[in-house]
Amino acid sequence: RGKRAFIAGVADDNGYGWAIAKSLAAAGAEILVGTWVPALNIFETSLRRGKFDESRVLPDGSLMDITKVYPLDAIFDCPEHVPEDIKNNKRYAGSTKWTVKEVAESVKEDFGSIDILVHSLANGPEVIKPLLETSRNGYLAAISASSYSFVSLLKHFVPIMNPGGATISLTYIASEKIIPGYGGGMSSAKAALESDTRVLAFEAGRKHKIRVNTISAGPLRSRAAKAIGFIDMMIDYSLENAPLQKELSAEEVGNAAAFLASPLASAITGAVVYVDNGLNAMGVGV
Ligand code: NAI
Repeated sequence: RGKRAFIAGVADDNGYGWAIAKSLAAAGAEILVGTWVPALNIFETSLRRGKFDESRVLPDGSLMDITKVYPLDAIFDCPEHVPEDIKNNKRYAGSTKWTVKEVAESVKEDFGSIDILVHSLANGPEVIKPLLETSRNGYLAAISASSYSFVSLLKHFVPIMNPGGATISLTYIASEKIIPGYGGGMSSAKAALESDTRVLAFEAGRKHKIRVNTISAGPLRSRAAKAIGFIDMMIDYSLENAPLQKELSAEEVGNAAAFLASPLASAITGAVVYVDNGLNAMGVGV
């Protein structure tokens, strides 16, 4: 049987989640995605209308098939935690069962189990503010959406993951080095995500034989990255200073994720794997 993957954080064909889905599909995996509720409508409509068909093409010429799209809001664990204003929000009212617990239950009901879990989502409402000007709420929101969301996904999906399975998240070098402009507590959120990768590798490894790794990716012009506002500068900086002077493609991150999710990486867990043209290894720009 081929592997089954659930990829949380796909809402268009520009981001890392989409590229990871493609690489996994090219390797023969069945693809399920979790899409942020407010983005669900436009994503499903675009898929249906063939807007992504060009980007669905796999190396063998066939089109990536997304077996099912689940609405998801990873800042809520169960229906009891959803506040009234969200429940009654027009963008949420049209969908049901989008808390993490309910999505895991739905996937179990529909498919029984999965082998691969990918977390490709982040949100920091105050990301454009320096840390020194970030509010408590903004900081906590960044941690909730970008770090705890992974803990919650793992907590609820591990019970339906087959032993030998793998989980992957996406992180950024701002967790360990100063990257001015990556504010709002997002640098802190990525540091938490990387630390949790180690602890969760231990816990999920011992208990369920599940591997947990994170990819520290270089800059990509995704929707989320454009909202931060400095992405073109970061891409130029990397082009100038990285050991490999080429633009990073989402596919390169997708391929690394497919490797990490595969039996080829069966002894790799608790790792931060850099897929950034080597920029992390530089001490000074030259
Ligand atoms: P993206 O915009 O394609 O992906 C972010 C996704 O998160 C979007 O689909 C958005 O709808 C979803 N999302 C936001 N809040 C959510 C919530 N509460 N529940 C469920 N989904 C939610 O952008 P990108 O850049 O591909 O981001 C994917 C991951 O890659 C993120 O963790 C990001 O921090 C990381 N990353 C991105 C880099 C870049 O330069 N683009 C560099 C290094 C890491």
